[in-house]
Amino acid sequence: MRVIIKEDASMVSEWAAEYVAFRINEFHPTAKKPFVLGLPTGSTPLGMYAHLIKMCQKGRVSFENVITFNMDEYIGLAPSHPQSYHYFMWQNFFKDIDIKPQNVHILNGLTKNYAKECADYERAIAAVGGVHLFIGGVGEDGHIAFNEPFSSLSSRTRIKTLTESTIKANARFFDGDISQVPTQALTVGIGTIMDAREVMILATGASKAQALKHSIEGSISHMWTLSALQQHPHGIIVCDKSATGALEQATTAYFMEVEKQKF
Ligand code: GLP
Repeated sequence: MRVIIKEDASMVSEWAAEYVAFRINEFHPTAKKPFVLGLPTGSTPLGMYAHLIKMCQKGRVSFENVITFNMDEYIGLAPSHPQSYHYFMWQNFFKDIDIKPQNVHILNGLTKNYAKECADYERAIAAVGGVHLFIGGVGEDGHIAFNEPFSSLSSRTRIKTLTESTIKANARFFDGDISQVPTQALTVGIGTIMDAREVMILATGASKAQALKHSIEGSISHMWTLSALQQHPHGIIVCDKSATGALEQATTAYFMEVEKQKF
């Protein structure tokens, strides 16, 4: 696993955006050979999206031949609901880049048939040959996408019930009203994410320090689902200094020493 430690959240966003553009550009995607990107929501990736929009508008990267799969969606929220992940993605990213709407995939939280929706999503990922780069954030309890503690580390796309701590953490997007936060979501599984050729997780702020400590220094455990990244051949965590606050000094020193190259 690589751990890239940056001074602050804005430098994390910039590094992540530059890395995404670098990967897309070196792949030289075409309509017949598209680049497949897995994408997260949450507050952490917002800066990366803003940076990628600027890069796209300056012609430094194009999403014309990029296919995206989002990680998750709340059950019961229509795409037009301002807190749905559909709305989030179009508002904060897709509307300002050159992506083709038919290349965007987001789970349908209004489906009547969860099992079919999830199986179709897995099939759609497989049909394009899998994800090249899956980007994620991390919850305070170490969850990635909505794979809450004790999720199977080989899980696939499915319905999950959210923990009270995730509901409380996400209430800030619902005017602080816990009763407005959906209690269930459709989410890609840990197995789905780990199947990607490369996985890049962004973590900023002191509230993520325990998640990083357990996932980087602890054992692989379903209690901290990000720890599954330890088994991925190409896993990267990009974080700011505050998120490394609970790591051993020697761990931080090691990664600062070895991660000197640009990418
Ligand atoms: C939600 C999302 C996760 C995200 C997490 C952290 O639970 N399902 O994908 O990583 O929130 O969000 P934030 O980046 O706002 O801290």
